[in-house]
Amino acid sequence: MSASQPVDTGLTRSATFLVFSVLRTDSSIQAVRRVLSSVPDIAKNISIRDVNANLTCVVGIGSRVWDSVTRLPRPAELHPFPEVRGAKQTAISTPGDLLFHIRAERRDMCFELERQLIEKLGDAVQLEDETVGFRYFDARDLLGFVDGTANPVGASDVSDAVMISESDDSGAVGGSYVVVQKYLHDLKAWRALSTEQQEAIIGRTKSDNVELDDADDGQQQAHKTLATIEDASGNEYAVLRDNMPFGSPSAGQYGTYFIAYSRHLWVVEKMMERMFLGNPPGLHDRILDFSTPITGSTFFAPSLRSLKALGDE
Ligand code: HEM
Repeated sequence: MSASQPVDTGLTRSATFLVFSVLRTDSSIQAVRRVLSSVPDIAKNISIRDVNANLTCVVGIGSRVWDSVTRLPRPAELHPFPEVRGAKQTAISTPGDLLFHIRAERRDMCFELERQLIEKLGDAVQLEDETVGFRYFDARDLLGFVDGTANPVGASDVSDAVMISESDDSGAVGGSYVVVQKYLHDLKAWRALSTEQQEAIIGRTKSDNVELDDADDGQQQAHKTLATIEDASGNEYAVLRDNMPFGSPSAGQYGTYFIAYSRHLWVVEKMMERMFLGNPPGLHDRILDFSTPITGSTFFAPSLRSLKALGDE
């Protein structure tokens, strides 16, 4: 099986999320191909300066430029992020051809990788969004809850959840779909709720992170229930989330950068529909009464070998 990019690094203390559009000229596409193929080497050169800092960078490529940038078969499910228009919030779809998901235990290592990337990409790309995320206490989001608990653990479960196999899509083996959404929170309104009300919205206790029982069918469901996807035979489909808090108290900005890796794009899209439209329809995820998405983009992170080969002529 083809090795994946370092998708399974786990949560680090620091992360930088970069989303770019690619200029549609031959020279820009050529430059981008060269830079993307060299990302594993750039990361290696920086990470050797402190191997304990666990510096990694995953590259995702969007639907619009997939053919021109990769010249590889299209991953079967790859398409732009579909807008989901709910009663309270809309999951908007925003431009994004390239995603760089940079993670490390040290902020300076993320910074350095970003610096070198920006220098090499030059004017072949246009920045759509840069978000710098940080670890908040025991991996809590800015709503105060531990985030990432239900992620798969261990090589086999992680790979089952995120890596495309030969039987899924022979042209995309070793790759993963990646979906990102940048959320801003109304922290004042959230903090006006009681802890019990917040816990009912998330579906876990706040201080010790214990899972609460699901509500009865037809009742308002918690976030963790709406985000649980089962097929008709009762098989559950996990994804790997690496959400990070970001923000600036003096600017009144409090956010969560949502990122999910998945073997099946439909699983993340189904989660989105259940959250924004509600299940049953009309009872949307109450996280959305306090959180507004301001970006939404889908990418495909090809296998390591496919990424490195982009530099070949
Ligand atoms: C669970 C926070 C958006 C998918 C959770 C948990 C928290 C959380 C605190 C419980 C602990 C855990 O298992 O990680 C947030 C915040 C969001 C957000 C603050 C943004 C405002 C999303 C979105 C999706 C999603 C957009 C998918 C489209 C999941 C899944 C789980 C989960 C799959 C695990 C459910 C289970 O228990 O099996 N989230 N989340 N989340 N969230 Fe979110």
